[in-house]
Order: sequence, then structure tokens, then C-alpha cells
Amino acid sequence: MKTLKIGICGWGNVATGLFKAIEKNSNLIQLNGGVNLTIDVIGARRDNPKCNPGKTKIERDIFDVIKHDIDVVVELIGGVEVARELIIKAITNKKHVVTANKAVIFHHGDELFKLAQENGVKILFESAVCAGTPIIKLLKEELAANKVSKISGMLNGTSNFILSNMEEGAEFDSTLKLAQDKGYAEPDPAFDIEGMDAAHKIGILSSLAFGTSLPPEDFFVEGITKIQKSDFSYAMDMGYTIKHLAVAKINESSLELRAHPALISLDSHLANLKGVRNGMEIDTDLIGKIHIAGSGAGQESTASGLISDLIHLSNTNEISDQLYKGDEGKYPVLDFSNLVFQYYFYIEAEDKPGVMASITSLMASKEVGIESIVQKEELGDSCVPIILITDPFKESDHAELQKELLNLDSVRAIRSIRIEAK
Ligand SMILES: NC(=O)c1ccc[n+]([C@@H]2O[C@H](COP(=O)([O-])OP(=O)(O)OC[C@H]3O[C@@H](n4cnc5c(N)ncnc54)[C@H](OP(=O)(O)O)[C@@H]3O)[C@@H](O)[C@H]2O)c1
Repeated sequence: MKTLKIGICGWGNVATGLFKAIEKNSNLIQLNGGVNLTIDVIGARRDNPKCNPGKTKIERDIFDVIKHDIDVVVELIGGVEVARELIIKAITNKKHVVTANKAVIFHHGDELFKLAQENGVKILFESAVCAGTPIIKLLKEELAANKVSKISGMLNGTSNFILSNMEEGAEFDSTLKLAQDKGYAEPDPAFDIEGMDAAHKIGILSSLAFGTSLPPEDFFVEGITKIQKSDFSYAMDMGYTIKHLAVAKINESSLELRAHPALISLDSHLANLKGVRNGMEIDTDLIGKIHIAGSGAGQESTASGLISDLIHLSNTNEISDQLYKGDEGKYPVLDFSNLVFQYYFYIEAEDKPGVMASITSLMASKEVGIESIVQKEELGDSCVPIILITDPFKESDHAELQKELLNLDSVRAIRSIRIEAK
């Protein structure tokens, strides 16, 4: 039986989860993976009361882990710059690298994969996107014979948890607090709710499927903080719900790369994925649409993805499956302002004659068609919500139209959400 000697860097949530999972399932890993995984050294700048590493050697300086006789460094410190430095040092010392760190792959992927290739070692990162839910190897291996045209889905569990709860009538703030209490959201949840976490993940998937660079040359990112619970009931009346959607999609010979809230049809597969789960839809030429969903965070799920990388590493000597492909087959990323969407507008206006006419004539003067416009029940204080669905128009005209609608005498507030085409 082969043995793979491992050095872990970092001793937090994921690292201790990996340690425990290897201990707990070592027989299964040997049976199914044909490898004996040994943790020879841990880089931990302090002890973690949640896990006793037994007799495993501890290095207080994570960089000293690389000096040991190990095959692979498992980078689990998170963050970008120190993680990059650590990975570079591991690679140049001819150690393979396994990481769960989406941020370092997103920002420095191209540099690191190129360096790994030059040094004859691998970087594997299954758990960097959706933790243990197998998406990286699915794209790289199982779908290798397919031309992928679109990847879309909910890649941030916290956002999906918050939006699913708002769909049931909860408020944003209380649901965010609940997500934090349950340990889904980070103490500083900005990365989740401002959309960056999902952007990192779709950026990595896009690089795998479409050869876009890491970091990507262009990207549109918007979070979920402006969504109100009333948007859900108005959207549902029209057959939609609201999700935070990350999308990489071929548009002729260019690529759309974006992560933002979107109205999606209630009868779509993604609309029914609720709670903290991640879910994706992949459009392929040979097997059509594929759906994949699963836990996108947590100690055990992440450990599962890391162990799958370690098994993969021990079972293949090839380094040709590296992500770095130079400029070959790369799709340029489209300028977001050139994309075309239908929009949902929530317009809060004074309840007086002529309001609807002023809105529709402004839309006509901007040559933006209206699919539907409905005045809803009064909110009090002589104020009515008007729900407007536009025909498709260019993103570059969206902000200006919203500003001009708000400038109308009777309009008090306005917000909008893009509608994802079926
Ligand atoms: N948690 C999840 O569910 C999940 C899922 C998928 C991927 N990931 C990724 O997995 C990685 C680890 O996440 P985590 O949840 O385990 O984080 P964590 O609990 O905060 O653990 C991070 C560990 O790294 C150590 N560390 C950080 N910076 C360091 C430095 N400069 N030098 C030495 N040690 C350093 C920390 O030490 P101190 O305790 O001393 O600060 C801690 O032991 C991240 O890249 C994350 O994005 C996490």
C-alpha cells in the first residue's frame, strides 16, 4: 500500500476537521483510495482546544512544515498573501499542494499553476469551491468530453440561507443574525453577503471550463443587501423567486462572468434549492443539463474534498491535468455594461392620478418596453408600490433609467433586480 506523507499548515476549523476525518476513516480511505494517509507534521502557531494532535510533530512557524520529509503541503490558513508565499515555497521545494483556499486561487491561480507545472508538482483544490461537493473534478474529468456552455448557481450558502428565509417572510437582518448564530456566516459576513465569496468560486469554475484567467480580467459582483422581503411576494406573484446567482456563460465567442441577485423562474431546479446548500446547473453539449447540489461549507464536507484530492494525488503521476493552459482556448470576458437583461423594478410612489402615466411615458422616451406594470395595495401614508417588469434592454442604460424614474415628482423610492433568462 502506498503512503502519502502530509504536512498541514493552519490548525483551525478545516485543518482539525481533516485531521479527525483521516483518523476516523483511515480504513475506508485505504480500502477505497488504496493509500495510507499519514499526517507527519502540523504547522500551528497555537494549540487548538478542539483537537488533540497526539504525537504528531508541531511546528509553530508554518513555513517550517516544508522542511520536513513530506509529499504534500495542505494549506489551510486562508487569506491571500501569506498563503501565496507558503504555496510558492512548497512548490519550489517540490512538494505538491492541496488547498481549500478559494481566495488565493482566484487572485493568484495562473501564477501558481504555472509555477507548479514548471516544478513538476500539482496544486489540487477540490474543496475551494463548494467544499466537499464534487465540482472541480466533475468539470476537469467527468465532463472532459463535453463542451460546457454555461455554469450557474448559488455558490454561497449564507446568501442562499438568508434569501430562502426571506422567501418565507423573514427580515434580512434577523436572518443574517440567525446565520451567524448557526455558524454559517463569518463573524464579518461581508464576503458572503456582498457577493465576493460566490465571485471567487465562479471565477475558479470559469477558469476550469472556459480558460478565463485567474484573477479574471473583468467581473461584475453585487451582493444581496438591497433585497427586501416584500420583493419575494411581488416576484412570486409573477412566477419568480430571488437567488444570488453566480454565472459563467458563453455568449457567442465571449464570456459573461457575473455574481448578483436575480429573479429566476419558480419552476427552475435552482429555485427549489433552499437553505445553506450550494447548487449548480451546468449546460453541456453531450449530456445536456446537469444539476449538482450539496453542502458547501463545514469541517466534514471540506475534509471530504481535501481527502479526495489526497487520494487523487497518490493515484496519478501525471501532471498534465494542471489548470494552467497558457492562452490557449481562452474566452475574453464581456464588458458587463454590454449585457442585456429584463429588469424587475419596485417603485414606491405617491398614490395620485397620473403616476402610472408619468412612469410609462418616461419608459417610452427611453425606448424601454414594458412587459407588465401593476399597482399593488397601498402601503399607508398615501404611498403605493408599483411593480414593473421591463422588456430586455442594455445594462449600460439601467442606472440612468433608475435615476430618472427616481427623479419623477411622485416617486419616493426605487430598486431593481435583474431577471435571469430561462
Ligand atoms: N470553514 C469552511 O467551512 C470552509 C469551507 C471551504 C473552504 N474553506 C477554506 O479553508 C481555509 C481554512 O478555513 P478555516 O475555516 O479552517 O479557518 P480558521 O478556522 O480561521 O483557521 C485558520 C487557521 O490558519 C491559521 N493561520 C491563519 N493565518 C496564519 C498565518 N499567517 N500564519 C500561521 N497560521 C495562520 C490560524 O491560526 P490562528 O488560530 O492562530 O489565527 C488558524 O489555525 C480557508 O481558506 C477557507 O476559505 C473553509
